[in-house]
Order: sequence, then C-alpha cells, then structure tokens
Amino acid sequence: MDHKSIFVLGRQPAIGRAELESLFGAEHLEPIGDYAVASDIPLQDIQFDRIGSSIRLAKPLSTINTTKWADIVRHIMREMPKNMDYIPEGKVKLGVSAYGLKVEPRQLLRLGLEAKKLARAHGRTSIRIVPNTEVTLNSAQVLHNGLTGECGRETLCIKYGDKTYFAQTVAIQNIDAYARRDQGRPKRDAYVGMLPPKLAQTIINLGTGPLSATSDHVVLDAFCGTGVILQEALLMGYGAYGSDIEPRMIDYSRKNLEWLSTTHGTSTDPILEVGDATSHRWQHPFSVVAGESYLGRALKQWPAPDKLHEIIGTCNIIITKFLENLAEQIPSGTRCCIAVTAWQSPEGRILHLPMLDRLEDLGYNRVRFSGASDKEMVYRRPDQLVARELLVITRK
Ligand SMILES: C[S@@+](CC[C@H](N)C(=O)[O-])C[C@H]1O[C@@H](n2cnc3c(N)ncnc32)[C@H](O)[C@@H]1O
Repeated sequence: MDHKSIFVLGRQPAIGRAELESLFGAEHLEPIGDYAVASDIPLQDIQFDRIGSSIRLAKPLSTINTTKWADIVRHIMREMPKNMDYIPEGKVKLGVSAYGLKVEPRQLLRLGLEAKKLARAHGRTSIRIVPNTEVTLNSAQVLHNGLTGECGRETLCIKYGDKTYFAQTVAIQNIDAYARRDQGRPKRDAYVGMLPPKLAQTIINLGTGPLSATSDHVVLDAFCGTGVILQEALLMGYGAYGSDIEPRMIDYSRKNLEWLSTTHGTSTDPILEVGDATSHRWQHPFSVVAGESYLGRALKQWPAPDKLHEIIGTCNIIITKFLENLAEQIPSGTRCCIAVTAWQSPEGRILHLPMLDRLEDLGYNRVRFSGASDKEMVYRRPDQLVARELLVITRK
C-alpha cells in the first residue's frame, strides 16, 4: 500500500482502529505498530476534526531498518537541515514524540538540545524546543505551541516491527474546541452522565459506516439525554433526531442545540420528541442509529452480588426491549452503534450485558473489525466501575 497519511491513535487504540475501519474500510488501512495506522488516503481528503479516537494526523516521511535510539537520533539530525528549509525564517518551535520505542523522556530532551545546536549552526537562532515530560508530547503542547502550523514541527518516531517510521504531524485533536462545546453548553446533567464529544463522534462514525456511502444521514438517538450525540451529528453535517423518556431531557437537548446553532452555525433543525425507546414509534425518517443507552446508576463502589445482578438486569431489559422495538421499524441493513453498559470490577474484570449473546435472535448481526476484537470495544477509564461497550450492529 502507498502510505499517504498516518493516524496516531488515542488512549484505546483498538477503538481508534475500529473507527477508521468503519469510515474508510480495512483495505485502505495498515497498522503501524500498536499506536498508529497508515492509510492510502491523501491527507487533503481527510476531515480530521470529525474523527474522535485518533489524536494526530501525520504525513509519512521515511523509514529506517532499526529501532535503536542512537540510529534514530542520527537519522533525525541528518534529515533536519533540509527539513528546516521548509520553515519560514523567524521563531521556530520543534517537538518530537516516540511511539513504542525504548526511550526515556530525558533522551528526547537531549535530542531537542542537539537539534537546537544544529539549527543554530545553520543560521536559525530563534528556535524553541517543546520539552518532553513524557515520550509523547500531549495534545495541548502540540496545539498551543503551534507545532502543526507554519513555524512549528513535530516529528513522530513510530516503532514498526524492527523498523522505525518517521512522520510529521499535520493535525492534532483540537482539545480546546472539544472543551468549548462540552463545557459551554447551557444544559448539562451530571446524573445522566457526560458523554465526551469525541466519544460521541466515534459512536456516530461507527454507526454511519463508510464515509463514501452517503453524506445525508439522519442520526437517531433514542436516549438523547442532553443531546451530545445530536450536537456532534449536526456538526458533522448530518440530520439529528432525538427522543428520550424524560421531557426534561428533551427540553435540555432543545436548549443545547439552540445554543449550538448560535455558537457554531449549525443550520438543520433537529427533531426532538419524548418517547420510551422500548415502545416508541419514530414517525420521522432516519438512516442511522447512534447513542448511549441507559447506563444504570453511577457506582462509587463495587456492589454486592445481588445488587449488581439487579443493576445488570435492568440495563439488560431496557436495551433488549429497545432493540426489539427498533427491529420492527428499520429496514434490513440499517446500521447502529449503541454504547451499552459494561462493568469493570476493581480487579479489572469486565462484565458484559447478557443480551450481547442474543443479538442474532433479536434480529441483528454484530459488525466485526479486523483491528479490534469485541472485547476491545469497551471504552473505559481505569478508575471507573461503569464502562461503555460500543456495540456496532446491523439489522438482519
Ligand atoms: C446515559 S444517558 C444518555 C446521555 C446522553 N448521551 C447525553 O448526551 O446527555 C441515558 C438517557 O436515557 C434516558 N432513558 C432511560 N430509559 C429510557 C427509555 N426507556 N427510553 C428512552 N430514554 C430512556 C435517560 O432519561 C437518559 O437521558
């Protein structure tokens, strides 16, 4: 495959791989080690700000047949003078991030100092190195130092088997834009849970499937809550259709989406209605189902076995009845991505909803990804007992 672009994956790389596979198809992707994926899609054809579970988009530069840090440093220093020619005169910021390689942050710092010296020797005096506290710079460092801009550069060194792959970051996840549309919304509700906008994007992308198929989707979220999925669907240019059992939530979604249209210029009007997802009849057309179903109560400590049994049972019934109700109303082939609850015990064991074993009986096929096993499709934070399993299915 002719590598034209590189995606650096987020905290849960398998979910990132599944999202890319869903959008572009496995035939256009090739994993580069555990943390990155190369593709034959040209950079200019990728709308990176629609992708939730990749952190960086990068331009492939070169590979070397070694993963030894000393060889990597030598290669970077050799290539650097010609790379500097592309950066305009004046203040320059440089950074480096390493993936999967045996290296310490202090070695990256040392490389930065050597690079600075070399740049000086080539007449570039106003150079700032963005210091590594970790082996990878964080998104804020890349974004706020303008490393993807005209006067910045971040070099990525990625372990690829017994080779090292070099790439240059051209886009970074815009954490500021995500924070603005997460924290700026007028109506938030800690009880229904805060779905991060980037996870909402991933759920939508897993739900729509191939980007090339159609761009005029209408996304139904039957558990819309405060409307994060609907918001992200509208920003992606899709139509949005939300329902929720709670009238208050529909009111919250309406207010949040009105805010979105004034702050972000979204033009399409969403459809919003009160309805119990286990019995509601959706009267308006939709082409994709995406959302986060009832997740059960938030847990501060691991419940006693009978309590846990009861919590799992409640979530299981709601999602089962919802899928049965939905199956009667959607044509064969309709694709859905629903975040359903999974529980993470203090020892790190994952408990899944029993209904996952009955998907076929309920009228659905599970969509499987070559870059992610079913088990890896659980979005979780190490310290949280309630996790979200990203279930991707199609109507049989
Ligand atoms: C985890 S929250 C979803 C939060 C949402 N993603 C957001 O952006 O705020 C689940 C939502 O499902 C709703 N809900 C619970 N049972 C329901 C049912 N049977 N039918 C429809 N909605 C239901 C709750 O009112 C809640 O808003």
